[in-house]
Amino acid sequence: EMLSYIDSLMSKMTLDEKLGQLNLLAWDGSLTTGAAANTGVSQKVANGLVGGLFNIESLQERRKIQELAIRQSRLGIPLMFGQDVIHGHHIIFPIPLALSCSWDLDLIELTAKAAAYEASADGIDWVFSPMVDISRDPRWGRVAEGAGEDTYLGSLIAEAMVKGYQGTNMATDESVMACVKHYALYGAAEAGRDYNTVDMSKIRMFQDYLPPYQAAVDAGVGSVMTSFNDINGIPATSNKWLIDDVLRKNWGFNGFIVTDYTAISEMGNHGIGDLKTSSALAIDAGIDMDMVSEGFVNTLKPSLDEGAVSLSVIDQACKRVLEAKYKLGLFNDPFIRLKKDSVNKLKETEFMELSLMAAQKSCVLLKNNNTLPLKSDQRVAVIGPLADSKKDLLGTWVLSGEMDKVQSIKEAAQKKGNILYAEGAKLTDNKELRKLINYNPGNKVDEVMLKEAVQTAQMSDVVVAVLGESAAMSGEASSMADISLQRTQKQLLRALVKTGKPVVLVLVGGRPLTLEWEAENCAAILQCWSGGTQTAPAVSNVLWGDYNPSGRLTMSFPRKVGQIPVYYNMKNTGRPLISGIKYTSQFIDVSNKPLYPFGYGLSYTSFEYGDLTIHDNVMHQGDTITASITIKNIGEYEGEETPQLYIRDLVASVTRPLKELKAFKKVYLKPGEETTIEFQISDKDLKFFNDKLEYLVEPGEFQISIGPNSEDVKTQNFHYKLK
Ligand code: IFM
Repeated sequence: EMLSYIDSLMSKMTLDEKLGQLNLLAWDGSLTTGAAANTGVSQKVANGLVGGLFNIESLQERRKIQELAIRQSRLGIPLMFGQDVIHGHHIIFPIPLALSCSWDLDLIELTAKAAAYEASADGIDWVFSPMVDISRDPRWGRVAEGAGEDTYLGSLIAEAMVKGYQGTNMATDESVMACVKHYALYGAAEAGRDYNTVDMSKIRMFQDYLPPYQAAVDAGVGSVMTSFNDINGIPATSNKWLIDDVLRKNWGFNGFIVTDYTAISEMGNHGIGDLKTSSALAIDAGIDMDMVSEGFVNTLKPSLDEGAVSLSVIDQACKRVLEAKYKLGLFNDPFIRLKKDSVNKLKETEFMELSLMAAQKSCVLLKNNNTLPLKSDQRVAVIGPLADSKKDLLGTWVLSGEMDKVQSIKEAAQKKGNILYAEGAKLTDNKELRKLINYNPGNKVDEVMLKEAVQTAQMSDVVVAVLGESAAMSGEASSMADISLQRTQKQLLRALVKTGKPVVLVLVGGRPLTLEWEAENCAAILQCWSGGTQTAPAVSNVLWGDYNPSGRLTMSFPRKVGQIPVYYNMKNTGRPLISGIKYTSQFIDVSNKPLYPFGYGLSYTSFEYGDLTIHDNVMHQGDTITASITIKNIGEYEGEETPQLYIRDLVASVTRPLKELKAFKKVYLKPGEETTIEFQISDKDLKFFNDKLEYLVEPGEFQISIGPNSEDVKTQNFHYKLK
């Protein structure tokens, strides 16, 4: 039915109208995240030269422009409205990196579903999410938008988010089309500098970086966005191997592919050619929709005349865009998502609760010297430049977040205990950064603020220092070479520690920071990230013990920037570290280990792991092996633990990592309670890409490790035999 509808529509379309469908524009005067912007958009819509729009501020405006498309353009083809709905729409959930620390797939899916509900009620058909770029480099500001460094967990999260956004039927006013991005390897930019070069072996790509995109495809994602970077010399946006061979042919993706913002015109800067050449290369590589460059609409006609592109390629792209609109129900009713006038209060309450749960589950307790939870009779000094901020708790990419629902950490703390407050210092004294984060230096000098903070601390029993990064310090185009706390904040923290009062460091922000000094000198550290609308109540629930923290890191925290990339699934090398022996693979000035490893996070209770047992030490091809371990809550609080299973292939035809996450569970235990958990291991957990890029298991020795994080594990070996 869809196909015949689209065929008949296409038979009426002129070449210009077909090219119009491939044209995605940003609304005039809207937020720009690149050097160029579109102009005269309404007229282009009326002329049938636009397929979709994004960055429109309001429902009313979307409605108006949809009317224009329907009534004024010759064929009345509805527009589709995209938007960067990344972690919630009106009610904001934790930034994706934070949310990934929950390791809670159901929760993650529910947040995407809630975002879809609110976005579709606001006239949005299509969200530029999930971002599934694996990254091992916290200098890259966009780590905030992804699920961290691990391929297995990242793939599960990609799937959960696609399901949450799209539901089982996209043609409803409660679901949207997802767009998995940025295809591909955007998180592997050299030095973590945004938009930078990527050069990577195919084994590593297939093994570590590509699976999350494929997981989104397998989950039925409707669209894919290509990345800005080049890959081994070819920009992702004109990379035929990547788009046509891998994504379409190998993985069977049949949705549509959009570029990132001006990525086609940027091919000029990559040195590939002018807009006309680049547009022809991009459509030939398999791109269907051009975001902002207007290269397709303006140059493909002459390229067609010259024989540089074929009509069948243009037709194919047009068909895919129209199919997306069909799947979204837009041909049935162009106003399907443009009707609701008021918010559903019941849903609002539900989403606020979900946002609180998500923020709580995203908090990772990194250190606790018996200082947390706080007691209700303690006098608590809440100090720091982020203690009274609201917008920074929401984080990057918040275009329609409702600020009136947000409390600052200071305000939420005041509801719990006896609070004294001082700002203490400005976020930074770096002039360039100050401009970027749009902060006003104020009229007090640091010395005065610092003195006030120290006096406030001296009057308290315990200090809660709320430091870290503002929303603008992570996210797109916010790479940093120094990822320690800003100088003014370090100065403040040192002064607070010097008072001798126990200092609880609460970290707001979007990336792992280097925290060696802080880890030595603070009594406790709680990483709360930018946790969304309910960050502040979540933080105070954790601080005062109404919620027992359960988050586990999904990115390693380096000790020093020079260790980067430092990630848990490294290889052994030919000269693994032997302590005391110089000619082994090591730094002579810092440990090889991160400060906090992947999978790490504390609780107010303690979990004791028993011995790891496997039911057989031989596994035959096609069979499974069961690994089990007993976990007991030996502390005083009930709490949630996340046992993690890692596998190492000890001998193979290509070098393999020291361990790779293959499974995890979440268990909730009361004090004294004990449980035995079981993991089934099958062939799929042992497979890898060999030198010919074949995905297979090779017989031989394997090692299973289970533990509370990637470093603290118990191990057992088994032998794998072919049939
Ligand atoms: O979706 C984003 C992308 O992640 C970065 N460039 C701009 C796009 C649209 O706003």
